[in-house]
Amino acid sequence: MTVGIYFATTTGKTEDIAERLHGLLGGAEAPRDMSDMDDLSEFANHDGIICGIPTWNTGADSERSGTAWDSILEDIGGLSLSGTKVAIFGLGDSSTYTENYCDAMEELHRYFKQAGATMVGYVSVKEYTFDESKSVLGDSFCGLPLDEDSESDMTDSRITQWVDQLKQEIPGLS
Ligand SMILES: Cc1cc2nc3c(=O)[nH]c(=O)nc-3n(C[C@H](O)[C@H](O)[C@H](O)COP(=O)(O)O)c2cc1C
Repeated sequence: MTVGIYFATTTGKTEDIAERLHGLLGGAEAPRDMSDMDDLSEFANHDGIICGIPTWNTGADSERSGTAWDSILEDIGGLSLSGTKVAIFGLGDSSTYTENYCDAMEELHRYFKQAGATMVGYVSVKEYTFDESKSVLGDSFCGLPLDEDSESDMTDSRITQWVDQLKQEIPGLS
């Protein structure tokens, strides 16, 4: 069983969370920066994939991350990932960008789903304060939203809870 952690970042916050998750998740490989990856075929070698994506392109119809994820979304959709568990975490700002909170998570979710992956790591909207997010499906986010700008005091408990959830949902994590 192998589990990979992948991220893209502009100011380093998503990378920092990827490192923190790696420290808490036994069995996951060291985080990889998507700007250094030219071959997506290694995704298919994993049983589980954890992806971190910030939102920068506020209100955009597509390519909302503003990072290396944007240009490979369609390539991800073309992969064959049935049997792979995929969890997404997103970085955003629920106060300044409350109408577009962590919108970019939805794009990764959509394209990994298109690739046939089993999407896990959903989080209830109940503990969050925001106006709108494209990453809400029903009463859950399609991953873990984190806000290091306005709610950094909540990050530790949100990560800890999510790590416990992923250990149940992705085989190979301890
Ligand atoms: C110009 C600008 C636009 C942003 N747009 C959004 C947005 O639409 N939605 C959101 O949730 N956060 C938005 N943010 C907040 C960032 O996503 C947040 O600071 C995040 O932690 C950055 O992650 P990174 O350091 O990994 O790039 C924006 C920040 C800036 C400065």
